[in-house]
Amino acid sequence: MYNEKVMEVFKNPQHMGEVENYNAIGTVGNEVCGDIMRITMRINPDGVIEDAKFKTFGCAAAVASSSTATGMIIGKTIDEALKITNKQVITELEGLPPQKIHCSVLAEDAIRAAIDYYEKNKKN
Ligand code: FES
Repeated sequence: MYNEKVMEVFKNPQHMGEVENYNAIGTVGNEVCGDIMRITMRINPDGVIEDAKFKTFGCAAAVASSSTATGMIIGKTIDEALKITNKQVITELEGLPPQKIHCSVLAEDAIRAAIDYYEKNKKN
């Protein structure tokens, strides 16, 4: 079902775990499949994402999507990270089967949820 790129990322995921001293956390789930994804980040005072990691309780596409998405946001500003879409994640993965598109949406949603948490909790 999956292409080679997706299988490669799934077997060797990067950025797995939880960022130490994170100040952004987003947990999202998909009601239909029941999969859950959590992304933690450390965002510096300049609004740059210094580190990002994920924990995913889900399918291979969800693991590959979260690994890819976290890799795409490290070193980016919050504004840049918010512009990353699930379509870009899919392009990076060289495609996902139609019934697995929602797995990449989970990654986009988790990034947004984490940044939302940061914005609400940051000390001015
Ligand atoms: Fe639900 Fe992939 S099947 S995240």
